[in-house]
Amino acid sequence: VITNEFTKKLPKCELHVHIEGTIEPELKLKLAQRNHIALTETTVEDIQKSYQFNDLASFLAVYYPGMSVLITEEDFYDLAFDYLRRAADNNVRHVEIFFDPQAHTTRGIAFKTIITGLHRAIVDARALNVDAALIMCFLRDLPKESARQTLLEALPYKDKFIGVGLDSDEHNNPPLKFARQFEDAAAHGLHLTTHCDIDQKDSIDHIRQALEIMEVERLDHGTNIVEDPDLVNFVIKKGIGLTSCPLSNSFVTPDMKGKELIDLLNQGVKISIHSDDPAYFGGYISDNYYKMATDFNLSKEQLIQLARNSFESAWISTDQKELYL
Ligand code: ADE
Ligand code: ZN
Repeated sequence: VITNEFTKKLPKCELHVHIEGTIEPELKLKLAQRNHIALTETTVEDIQKSYQFNDLASFLAVYYPGMSVLITEEDFYDLAFDYLRRAADNNVRHVEIFFDPQAHTTRGIAFKTIITGLHRAIVDARALNVDAALIMCFLRDLPKESARQTLLEALPYKDKFIGVGLDSDEHNNPPLKFARQFEDAAAHGLHLTTHCDIDQKDSIDHIRQALEIMEVERLDHGTNIVEDPDLVNFVIKKGIGLTSCPLSNSFVTPDMKGKELIDLLNQGVKISIHSDDPAYFGGYISDNYYKMATDFNLSKEQLIQLARNSFESAWISTDQKELYL
């Protein structure tokens, strides 16, 4: 039988975690106090009680206001370092962290403040034996002009992040809206991924655009691909990874989408398990492995394959992969 201990000790990569989604209620309170910000909720319990959502839009409506406590470089440092400590504790060997600059620059925080704080935490976390990198996400519900501006602001710091992604509300915000920004990012040597959230109005169209037109290297979520065998064959042939987040799925849709995950795994898709917004969805990466293992009676071999897929999908060198696999 699979134990919590086993899923915790399993060496793994975290490839789908939003740094803003790792802010625990305790840190929210600490930063609110430090920055003299009045929160509606003043205890850990009240903050937890305010986490009520049943779809992506209602989640995002709780999620963005929660970022108001992040102001200084030190705040971004503390956020990332606290998370990386927990990653180390979950035997995460390598992590690729999403951050949403526009969620902060639109509140008047400088891009430099955000990236400098996050990056300094990554450098210091090497002492914990966690290797980490940043992926900059564009908020897809903002105009593409804002994404263009964000990429321009970010390019002087291009040694501090390794790729770009798309997140936030997918409804009527297809990947193609950002085709030009992705092309520009790729021309600067950046990796490409995009969220294709669960059960969206145009899930399959969005997945097809991302794969065939924008040539992304990974899909975040993307499990609706099971509905289209041709696209499944495409990701198998190209070795494109899918980063799946079972606990997150169970909050924003009626179920974990575990059946779809296992179906894709059995077909040979490079699918792996991640945590998305662990401070909001009730668990870190090992908890996601454990929940899948217990609810779907997964074998050790299946869990090891999922962890292996996470290394295969990671944007690390072949040498680095061989060290782990
Ligand atoms: N931002 C943070 N978590 C997200 C998710 N699951 N989907 C889209 N945008 C997000
Ligand atoms: Zn996500």
